[in-house]
Amino acid sequence: MKIAVAGKGGVGKTTVTAGLCRLLAEQNRGPWAIDADPNNCLGYALGFPQYLLDDVKPLSDMRQMLAERAGSNAGQGGMFSLNPDVTDIIADYEINYYDISLLVMGIVDEGGTGCMCPENATLRTILRELVHTERDLMVDMVAGLEHLGRGTAQAVDGLLIITQPNRSALRTVPRIHKLAEDIGLTRMWVLGNNVNSEEEADRIQQSIPQMPLLGTLGHYPQIQDDDVFVGASGSNLKSDLSQILTKLEAQLDGDA
Ligand SMILES: Nc1ncnc2c1ncn2[C@@H]1O[C@H](COP(=O)(O)OP(=O)(O)OP(=O)(O)O)[C@@H](O)[C@H]1O
Ligand SMILES: [Mg+2]
Repeated sequence: MKIAVAGKGGVGKTTVTAGLCRLLAEQNRGPWAIDADPNNCLGYALGFPQYLLDDVKPLSDMRQMLAERAGSNAGQGGMFSLNPDVTDIIADYEINYYDISLLVMGIVDEGGTGCMCPENATLRTILRELVHTERDLMVDMVAGLEHLGRGTAQAVDGLLIITQPNRSALRTVPRIHKLAEDIGLTRMWVLGNNVNSEEEADRIQQSIPQMPLLGTLGHYPQIQDDDVFVGASGSNLKSDLSQILTKLEAQLDGDA
């Protein structure tokens, strides 16, 4: 399964992405974990050791190489005219732990312009490549969906939108839904995080009548940022996430 994870800032995207990747790895499925958020937190949540994270080469460094491979100039808007085979380049950038292959987007915003276009083009090139491999893939996104071009969006199996039961997180869901539709993504599910009552779950479902609520996660006070499953070992996080994974796969099987 190939899933992109989106949602408002702080709702739990990285926690969910990391947890699902760890569960996939435990099933010996060797997933790809793609950290598309320039803050690069996914590696920590996955429990990768610091020495590996210190040495990780961000995908933003790959741009020149990709441009050369594509026979175009990365300086010209960072777009690549061809769709080069980049498998060998990717192998040079991934770091592996727990049977998870992590790729990180890296720091962006060259020249203070705020434009992430070249980096997004790089990421799209890589995603285009990886979505055609057999391995599972999870992408931890920023709130917007600018990383996903049309081609890539249609190649992922779907978008998991994380929300919490508060108004500001909920307001973001239809916006993401619209953006996703605009780039041709049709399969989307909402996952409620930090949901502590039926009433809160109902509030989520009522505010997104057009979308299925895949399930909910509770509040797990022991979660730590540097390995989702270490602090949460005494909680239900893992079993709750396992249920979410099962439901997600059932949905995907139903679509097949
Ligand atoms: N269900 C939960 N129970 C307790 N703590 C949680 C839960 N979900 C997430 N957290 C904590 O909340 C914080 C934000 O979660 P996380 O980093 O996963 O969100 P995010 O959506 O990736 O944020 P950002 O938009 O900044 O990337 C983290 O410290 C995480 O450990
Ligand atoms: Mg995050």
